Amino acid sequence: SEFEVRLAGSGTTFTVRTGESVLDAALRQGVMLPYSCKNGTCGSCKGTLVTGEVHYPFHPPMALERHELADSKTLLCQAEPLEDLVVEAREIEAIRDIEVRRLPARVMEKTLLADNVMKLVLKLPAAQRLQFLAGQYIEILLAGGKRRAFSIASPPSSEDEIELHVRHVEGGDFTGWVFNELALRDILRLEGPLGTFFVRNDGAERPLVMMGGGTGFAPLKSMIEDLLAHGDQRPIHLFWGARTPAELYQEGLVREWTQAHPHIQYSSAISEPGDDAAPRGFAGFVHEAVVDTYPDLSGHDVYMSGPPAMIDAAKQAFAAHGVHTDRLFYDSFEFGA
Ligand code: FES
Repeated sequence: SEFEVRLAGSGTTFTVRTGESVLDAALRQGVMLPYSCKNGTCGSCKGTLVTGEVHYPFHPPMALERHELADSKTLLCQAEPLEDLVVEAREIEAIRDIEVRRLPARVMEKTLLADNVMKLVLKLPAAQRLQFLAGQYIEILLAGGKRRAFSIASPPSSEDEIELHVRHVEGGDFTGWVFNELALRDILRLEGPLGTFFVRNDGAERPLVMMGGGTGFAPLKSMIEDLLAHGDQRPIHLFWGARTPAELYQEGLVREWTQAHPHIQYSSAISEPGDDAAPRGFAGFVHEAVVDTYPDLSGHDVYMSGPPAMIDAAKQAFAAHGVHTDRLFYDSFEFGA
């Protein structure tokens, strides 16, 4: 049986099939709702149930606090309707018209950026482009229906090539294969663009704080290069955090940005500074560096990308420092094994 979902604000309606989440049904029908992890942990897909009831057959809605459940909040990536629903959720206009495609892509470059980070440059077939918004991600399709998600590190203007930063996960079958076996000119299959992490240009000319953990730098790099390409003058303060300085694998590029563009600032944070090295940057977690620099975040738009634990800690810290929740955008990813 199918149920109907109506969005409270816009009145947009779509149908949900048995066994489908509200989010999947919306995306299938071209209704763009915010999401990132799709497994119930990040909270990007949070909405409010105005009427109707849902259940969570696969994952409990971990990203919801108890009081939020009591307030009829729901995680649309996990929620399946038990009846027709009216839901309050932000519909995203900007990516509505971007088509999600499956494409083969050829490996053109494989460069080690750090001990555990590999840069891949993939070339799309002749005359094909992947239309995307800076900050979105693609999935690499593997045998047996498995997928691995990677943010696009290059800006949309780089035409028929896309750059990925692949972090080697200890014991990870796919990333181990990328590091050791994947060869130049091999073909990968990908699907994208995906996700709703992109810079909002909605007239609020607020300064941007961007925060990345490890390879969470990748989508921010795409965003910054895209903003520069468009001559956007909003001040940008990039914070990049990692365990060790070596994991800040493209600081040379970041310094080129800050030297050429006075509106870009950069700060680093190292969470495991050794005692021998001269102290460099902020010693601690990168979200601590952000609130140390900006005790009041109420005037900023904040974009952040990193593993779930970092994003969760940052959400709480930034809320305590005045960030407007509708001006906080994030991409939360597990490192794909
Ligand atoms: Fe639903 Fe992350 S919790 S997309």
